[in-house]
Amino acid sequence: MNIEKDLSVTVAGVRFPNPVIAASGTYGFGQDYTDLYPLNKLGGISCKGTTLLPKDGNPAPRIAETPAGMLNSVGLQNPGIDAFISKYLPIAKKEGNVVIANVAGATLEDYKQAVQRLDGTDVDMIEVNISCPNVKQGGASWGISCDGAAAVTKTVRAVTKKPLMIKLTPNVTNIVDIAKAAEAEGADCVSLINTLLGMRIDIKTRRPILKNNVGGFSGPAVFPVAVRMVWQVANAVNIDVVGMGGITTSDDAVEMMMAGAKAVQMGTSIFTDPYSPLKVIEGLKQYMIDNKLNSLEEITGTVQPW
Ligand SMILES: Cc1cc2nc3c(=O)[nH]c(=O)nc-3n(C[C@H](O)[C@H](O)[C@H](O)COP(=O)(O)O)c2cc1C
Repeated sequence: MNIEKDLSVTVAGVRFPNPVIAASGTYGFGQDYTDLYPLNKLGGISCKGTTLLPKDGNPAPRIAETPAGMLNSVGLQNPGIDAFISKYLPIAKKEGNVVIANVAGATLEDYKQAVQRLDGTDVDMIEVNISCPNVKQGGASWGISCDGAAAVTKTVRAVTKKPLMIKLTPNVTNIVDIAKAAEAEGADCVSLINTLLGMRIDIKTRRPILKNNVGGFSGPAVFPVAVRMVWQVANAVNIDVVGMGGITTSDDAVEMMMAGAKAVQMGTSIFTDPYSPLKVIEGLKQYMIDNKLNSLEEITGTVQPW
């Protein structure tokens, strides 16, 4: 029997038909997946991190495998904000549900100009990446201090009324303080976690496997770290939280929501199975049926700590 269930969730005032979002940098702008399934099966897409000007990214090798995960040092390769707006956004909007632009920058002025340009478009939400570990300037350096996080949030808040999601780095001592700094300057929600800084070495050549020496660690191995951080942040802020980091199954998604997430993003698991987000959506629907839920929001933040 095919029971209809409403899987929708609302994050920062934006309704997602289901809580599963493709994570930035792992799904392009959606265009490479349209042959596999309609993009509107997903709750939303967070598009590849985009900077004011086009970027080539870092030299190869920029991917390394790890047990239950991967390292990447792609370094924000992207076509720039103008190409995003003119070429990629219209397709994503036509074919997908909620479309989230993901913006990165080296300077406050970069962030400001990129967000200003997006403000005039029909993008549904802007995710501001203050957490990329793979760029020499900017990126994570904004997200590793409260002052930096506050400065970026304040700058972009001043130039847009679009819902703003600030994406946090786990490479900090106290992620709660950073989340609060973003909230205080007008973030509508936060997303976490970006990748953990990691390194692998080829023992034959004694060289790091990545040409960038270090890179961002993601995939199932980071899941417990992500759950812990989402739980800590969700308990400390009054804005919505979007959780990610190693989500592979619908049980993982439920766990992340119990920790405090209203919606989830999936990245690395899409590389091993591009259909994994659809399987998670199906699993969430079954979970609602089995647990007689009317809304998935009923499980957000319901973990009962000892
Ligand atoms: C190859 C690759 C590229 C990424 N590029 C971006 C990016 O451009 N912007 C961003 O905010 N996060 C980027 N991320 C981080 C992911 O969006 C996500 O935060 C992280 O990988 C943890 O989730 P996961 O374990 O499900 O992949 C990238 C991750 C990977 C693996």
